[in-house]
Amino acid sequence: MVQSDFLVIGSGAAGLSFALSVAEYGSVTIVTKKESIESNTNYAQGGIAVATSAEDSIESHIHDTLAAGAGLCDENVVRTIITEGPARLDELRRRGARFTENAPGQLDLGKEGGHSFNRIVHSKDSTGREVERALMEETQAHRNIRVLEHHFAIDLITEHHLLTAHRADDRITCFGAYVFDEHDGRVEPHLARVTMLATGGTGHVYLHTTNPSVATGDGLAMAYRARALFRHLEFMQFHPTALFHERGNSFLISEAVRGEGALLRSIEGERFMTRYDKRAELSPRDIVARAIDDEMKKSGSRHVWLDATGLGSDFLESRFPMIYQRCLSYGIDMAKEFVPIVPAAHYMCGGVQTDLDGQSSIVGLLACGEVACTGLHGANRLASNSLLEAIVVSNRAAKNAIRIFENISCLECVPEWDHSGTSDPQEEILISHNRDELQRLMTNYVGIVRSRARLKRAERRSRLLFEETEEFYRKSILSVSLCELRNLIAVAYMIIKSAKMRTESRGLHYMSDYPEPYENALDDVVLQRSSFANR
Ligand code: FAD
Ligand code: SIN
Repeated sequence: MVQSDFLVIGSGAAGLSFALSVAEYGSVTIVTKKESIESNTNYAQGGIAVATSAEDSIESHIHDTLAAGAGLCDENVVRTIITEGPARLDELRRRGARFTENAPGQLDLGKEGGHSFNRIVHSKDSTGREVERALMEETQAHRNIRVLEHHFAIDLITEHHLLTAHRADDRITCFGAYVFDEHDGRVEPHLARVTMLATGGTGHVYLHTTNPSVATGDGLAMAYRARALFRHLEFMQFHPTALFHERGNSFLISEAVRGEGALLRSIEGERFMTRYDKRAELSPRDIVARAIDDEMKKSGSRHVWLDATGLGSDFLESRFPMIYQRCLSYGIDMAKEFVPIVPAAHYMCGGVQTDLDGQSSIVGLLACGEVACTGLHGANRLASNSLLEAIVVSNRAAKNAIRIFENISCLECVPEWDHSGTSDPQEEILISHNRDELQRLMTNYVGIVRSRARLKRAERRSRLLFEETEEFYRKSILSVSLCELRNLIAVAYMIIKSAKMRTESRGLHYMSDYPEPYENALDDVVLQRSSFANR
């Protein structure tokens, strides 16, 4: 059994920033499922949206965020996060993150869709790598923080594992998590006064995603099984421009490339975005992704083109060195030829419902970053607002944790993980078959364009996958791939259920049966597992 004051699940921007902010007050254990830098954070390209320039303003950033969110942002949350952004950016720089400058002390600011001004602070096109590097270096040097790599959190520990009665007020409490150590195959309880869920996104619930392989929605599924409250899960953001290439594995071509003037062209080479929105290539992402989807359906093509040839090779090489080199490695010279692109699953706007201090509906459980839903993004996230949210809310959550942790006592012991009745699976290949089937059904029926018939079909088929996988899970010796499959199925179920409840089109959720927003549908779709026993 491992005991700490603070257990952090995940080592991206949210988890690391939180850990560094609480580490002076108590012991911190970070568990992370692969190498510590492996996270969505590490692949962030465009940057961090912060209003810092003289012509820009906090009010303008708030306005753009609310406009992208299509009526579902929480205005107080938007205002607070955007207002606190500059201070958190300064803190990140003090922690050693270096951002691109166009003169000493003067940040170079990029532009992305939906932003009225250039306000994206970046490290060329590898912003996330720089943020992760700086935070990880400080984390590793901290005497109070221990990082355990290849440690996969399986489930949150709540009363229902202890088989004790609920608290009088019937609120669920989290005492830590059961964690699978991949080195020795053991499952150990990690107990803590406060648990921070910072497990990131869930792009792999779809066939094509910009997310790295760790993004399998584990935190969402764990919190669902623990009966946390969720909201906005119907809003999955598809990034318009992922590379279409058999070896490219949905590699992202940053929106900042369009911010610098690149254009979108149909398979025949015609510029089409001006027909869809006056903001053209820099319209919010939901509009651009749907326009591309529409062009592909009309022409029967498997991709459209991104034309960056007007930017010139010198500029592309210096502003987007990583993207330029990566395209070259696939035989595409962006300076001379169009890049084939398709939309791909990119960011989950919904998540574990929290307040501005990361507090979930479960006592002792905080959540922050992509796994959480504060209400900043509403029905569609404005580009580069997620790293901003991660650094601001993790700081507030740390203050919250420091306030509450001394009044929460750590459990002394919990039951060992129950392995009884499990054996080596006879046909491990069934895991990848079911995963592939799930990703296809989510892509076909719960993608950029949805309908009642599609969602119904998705629900029916995912139910069968759920039943098969649960049976497999009960009988099999634990493996990461099996846990991930189980989690992806839970997340798919939550997305489908939330999507079915929203009978309108709004932001990223487009229903062909209800193509317009419905004025009275501004309420959140809030989801909670109805009991520990059922789906
Ligand atoms: P992550 O950074 O994803 O970290 C999650 C951590 O949890 C990882 O360490 C993971 O291994 C760990 N984990 C997950 N499950 C488990 C488990 N079961 N047990 C233990 N550990 C677990 N946003 C912007 O604002 N600006 C951008 O320019 C930008 N560009 C992007 C480009 C790409 C290609 C992608 C994929 C995303 C981009 N985003 C961008 C989104 C942004 O990067 C993420 O939303 C943000 O980094 C999420 O941070 P996080 O700390 O919440 O999660
Ligand atoms: C990008 O660089 O296009 C990604 C930015 C984001 O997802 O916020």
